[in-house]
Amino acid sequence: MRTVVIAGGTRGIGRALATSLDADVIALGSADADLTSVRETRDLIGRLPDRIDALVLSAGSFSRRRIVTAEGHERTFAIGVLARYLLADGLRPALERSPDPMILNLCGVGGIRAGHVHWDDLTLTRGYSLFAATMQVARANDLLGAGFAGEYPGTPIRYVLYNPLFVDSGMHVHFDQPMRALVGGAAKVLGMSARRAAEPLKALVDVPPADCLTALRRGVAVPLPDASDAARMYDVIRTTLK
Ligand SMILES: NC(=O)c1ccc[n+]([C@@H]2O[C@H](COP(=O)([O-])OP(=O)(O)OC[C@H]3O[C@@H](n4cnc5c(N)ncnc54)[C@H](OP(=O)(O)O)[C@@H]3O)[C@@H](O)[C@H]2O)c1
Repeated sequence: MRTVVIAGGTRGIGRALATSLDADVIALGSADADLTSVRETRDLIGRLPDRIDALVLSAGSFSRRRIVTAEGHERTFAIGVLARYLLADGLRPALERSPDPMILNLCGVGGIRAGHVHWDDLTLTRGYSLFAATMQVARANDLLGAGFAGEYPGTPIRYVLYNPLFVDSGMHVHFDQPMRALVGGAAKVLGMSARRAAEPLKALVDVPPADCLTALRRGVAVPLPDASDAARMYDVIRTTLK
């Protein structure tokens, strides 16, 4: 039986995927580790099995207010980018012990193009907004996938960037009113259910694609992120985490 670790497996899409898989699933939430903390993320990696077949990166959280963690990182970036980098990098040896390993990063690839990585101000000291922080994390995640593939060219791990588009996952609870009611209402009408969103994800985890890097927007292939920007993102993250 495959062993699947799902960071963000206690709610929303991650939970729907966790309950659909025929596998030994380790569904992680904030009670297992606070992924906004680099230290807690590293500790968590040390507690996970030494052979993992699939790693799903689904944890995220966002805020209207700029919050800086005790370790000095902007919170949205810490959980959305640094923790995903650490988990993929730290669990690589465990994944490489699997005969058929993969990483599935739930992200915004091929979606809204607005927003960008603020290379000179990653912690968004200037002009923080929920939108700027969320879009920066989205673009940075595109680069994480391409960066992993570029960094470890010989690895058997297949990396999949997957944008599920709008899903009625309950994420409106992060907002204050009246946005909470608006986003919740829009998700009910326009969003796909988390259970349906999880169906193609289960297929990808069960049988990973052959290519070392795949980018899909609700199942449809989209262009791969720029490799030189990806290498730059890896360099910046390494420097940030020193
Ligand atoms: N929903 C959409 O429409 C949509 C669209 C495109 C992309 N995505 C991406 O898909 C992923 C999943 O989305 P979702 O809507 O299903 O998310 P969600 O319902 O908000 O679930 C978030 C998960 O992250 C965990 N989490 C939150 N803060 C944490 C912390 N500090 N430490 C550890 N874990 C923490 C939660 O655990 P607890 O329950 O323990 O707090 C939960 O399991 C996200 O990364 C999102 O960017 C979603």
